[in-house]
Amino acid sequence: MNRRRSAILFGIFILIGATAEFSRAETGREAWLRYVPLDDAARTKYESLPASTVVVGDSVVLHTAQQELIRGVRGMLGRTLRAEKSLPPEAAIVLGTLTNLKPTVSDLHPKQELSEDGFWLTTTKVQGNECIIITAANDRGVLYGVFALLSKIARNESLASLNDTQQPFVPIRWVDQWDNLNGTIERGYAGPSIFFLNDHVRSDLTRASEYARLMSSIGINGCTVTNVNANPGVLEEIFLPQLGRIADAFRPWGVKLSVSVDISSPKLVGGLDTFDPLDPRVTDWWKKKVDEIYQKIPDFGGFVVKADSEGRPGPSSYGRTPADAANGIARALKPHGGILFYRAFVYNHHLDWTDSKNDRARAAYDIFHPLDGKFDDNVIVQIKHGPIDFQAREPVSPLFAGLQKTNAAIEVQVTQEYTGQQRHVVFLPSMWKGVLDFDLHANGGNTLVKDIIAGKTFHRPLGGFVAVVNVGTDENWLAHPLAMANLYGYGRLAWNPNLSAEAIADEWTRLTFGNAPEVVKTIAGLQLASWQVYESYTGPLGAQTLTNIVGPHYGPGIESSENNGWGQWHRADGEGIGMDRSVEIGTGYAGQYPEAVAKMYDSLQTTPDALVLFFHHVPYTYRLHSGKTVIQHIYDAHYEGAERAAEFVEKWRTLKGHIDDERYADVLSRLKYQSGHAIVWRDAICNYFLKLSGIPDDKERAGHFPNRTEAKAMQLEGYTSVEVTPWENASAGKAVECTNRKSCIASFKFDRAAGWYELDVQYFDQNNGEAKFRMYVGDQLVDEWIGDKHFPSAKLGGDTSTRRWISGIALRPGDEIHIEGFPDGQDPAAFDYIEIRPSIVDSSGYR
Ligand code: GCU
Repeated sequence: MNRRRSAILFGIFILIGATAEFSRAETGREAWLRYVPLDDAARTKYESLPASTVVVGDSVVLHTAQQELIRGVRGMLGRTLRAEKSLPPEAAIVLGTLTNLKPTVSDLHPKQELSEDGFWLTTTKVQGNECIIITAANDRGVLYGVFALLSKIARNESLASLNDTQQPFVPIRWVDQWDNLNGTIERGYAGPSIFFLNDHVRSDLTRASEYARLMSSIGINGCTVTNVNANPGVLEEIFLPQLGRIADAFRPWGVKLSVSVDISSPKLVGGLDTFDPLDPRVTDWWKKKVDEIYQKIPDFGGFVVKADSEGRPGPSSYGRTPADAANGIARALKPHGGILFYRAFVYNHHLDWTDSKNDRARAAYDIFHPLDGKFDDNVIVQIKHGPIDFQAREPVSPLFAGLQKTNAAIEVQVTQEYTGQQRHVVFLPSMWKGVLDFDLHANGGNTLVKDIIAGKTFHRPLGGFVAVVNVGTDENWLAHPLAMANLYGYGRLAWNPNLSAEAIADEWTRLTFGNAPEVVKTIAGLQLASWQVYESYTGPLGAQTLTNIVGPHYGPGIESSENNGWGQWHRADGEGIGMDRSVEIGTGYAGQYPEAVAKMYDSLQTTPDALVLFFHHVPYTYRLHSGKTVIQHIYDAHYEGAERAAEFVEKWRTLKGHIDDERYADVLSRLKYQSGHAIVWRDAICNYFLKLSGIPDDKERAGHFPNRTEAKAMQLEGYTSVEVTPWENASAGKAVECTNRKSCIASFKFDRAAGWYELDVQYFDQNNGEAKFRMYVGDQLVDEWIGDKHFPSAKLGGDTSTRRWISGIALRPGDEIHIEGFPDGQDPAAFDYIEIRPSIVDSSGYR
């Protein structure tokens, strides 16, 4: 090869090398543990990193820790650390518990005593060589220390003068999966179970191990793998070895396995004629069953119980209390160190809605507060953060202050059941921070929720955090690439609830998308704004998420939470809105809080605007602290929320070329969808309350849609007009659908000035077919698409209403615009309207 050719080839290699990081396909599977090569400037910071690593001690977790360290350093710095069994005659990264290290490394005195799972990263001379020490009270702590060191490198933090002690705030940092044995996941939005398929544990548990690695990296130490609406089959003798395989996948990462159990298992699995928790035959059955489990899985974590709730069997069948039920099982677990989580989500879903004193929000406190002190020490009462059910805004559950002689854990949801189901971006740590930092003023003192659940306030031996996560087989775990920030944030807050939402968003973004300042600023900024934006176009002022509560909990469904026993009422009528929960004339719920908080919520004047409709029924003309009337707030919040959701799309576009193309494109299309769905929410809620209150929007937006052409007003060939229920989920309550034909056409003439326009088509994407659409201007096909997104409904309505954004179309007066719809299966290629807006053109093209 001549010199010129080889120089050219060399140049090509350099180019390929330079773009290597960019061209690597980002699937999201590695989440925040990507370990991508650092750039040269960052790499120089770690030039003096030792070349070898020695682990003192021998356990599967310590082995994992060493392997993870090698993997991370190799990925980020391109160096393979030498794995040693004893101290080499050179600098090393030394791993081991304090007890194991002390004989080898003298002078190892952490400033504070290390608690279980806590760790210390430091540097010291060992046999004359400067070493990095990763030490802890237990093996799991060493593994956590390795993850912490790698996180610092990934975020380009200096390791000079390394001296970092981190202790977990709480002992219990668990996650729950609501996986069914048949492989489906209740309220899961990212594919089927990674654990189960066809009533068996999957033969390939690679994803389960990978999940355990992710959990471990953020300090999560337990995982319940089965749905709280439990399948008794999980306790069948033949199933236990299968569960053992999941425990095997978790063990190297220090994650304990647990399962949800059906309280009637002694009957269903054990063949007894009772499951009365006080019957000795029943307690004996639990004891034998638990012993059997521990024989197969010696480090088994324990059980979760949902009973007397939403149709589940419970101790009430025998006139027994939740404490009777919990203790009966907890005593079987106790000798093995197992824990029993008893859920406080117990309520009557057949409440009489005509009785204005009835209130589902009261249930947990009414049932559990009288039992305070009656639960055994290895029972944890698991309390949802709010009194209803994971709404976009709820007050803190008063039960946290109501249990002072009982262990408690907070339950939050990473799976976005009521917050957009991972189709909307909602960064939940912002919401959780408000809960954890809330001062309940129990016993007149300073009692923050985070301190209570940590056991610090009432001196409890156990307590902590549980999150319902519901990762699935989707390559990136939670479907929306930005949703993993919620799992990361959950783990970080369970480890240290004093971290700010800002710090968490910053960390996660750096680890997930890299350290470029503009990237970090844009993505973290978007995350931090997202909860408030979602709340503002869905449920206002504490009226809760105004979604279809008897259906999929996704799109708008304002009336569905009224007039039924489920009790998620907002009591909207022609005069006003809100649930009166005050002490004297309301349901009395406000009185469940300690005095100072009860006083604040009991009075309309001192209740914060954000929760006013949760605690009080007010006229639409009531003036909030903000100075706005309630009705004007509803209009303003929904319009502003939808505008801000649209801005997310523009913000994201600035990242083009600065992050990988795969995740750029994926998030962009999701944000576009979200901004369209925000309009569906906005219109449903504004139109509904405009009609109900009869009070117009000061800014004349609600009910006015000057750029819209309704489908039913077009020239229809085959398409027929249909009513949509509830009416507010389609423009003017109607849409058109194509049935019994191969295709249908709707057309109209454009009659505005010539120019460039944006054509937005609001269509319905049902999950019972994949209808196709074609859009023409004159004879020219300008766009075509398929409705294949599988939203959670087979009906026209707010769950399926979707926007197609078609930009940069030249139109002249007299142009004929037509849509041709091709039904598929039961999906009738229905659509609602077309909105035509002048295009905004800037340097980056048409928007
Ligand atoms: C919600 C959810 C149910 C779940 C329940 C629970 O109501 O919609 O699917 O079973 O919470 O937490 O038990």
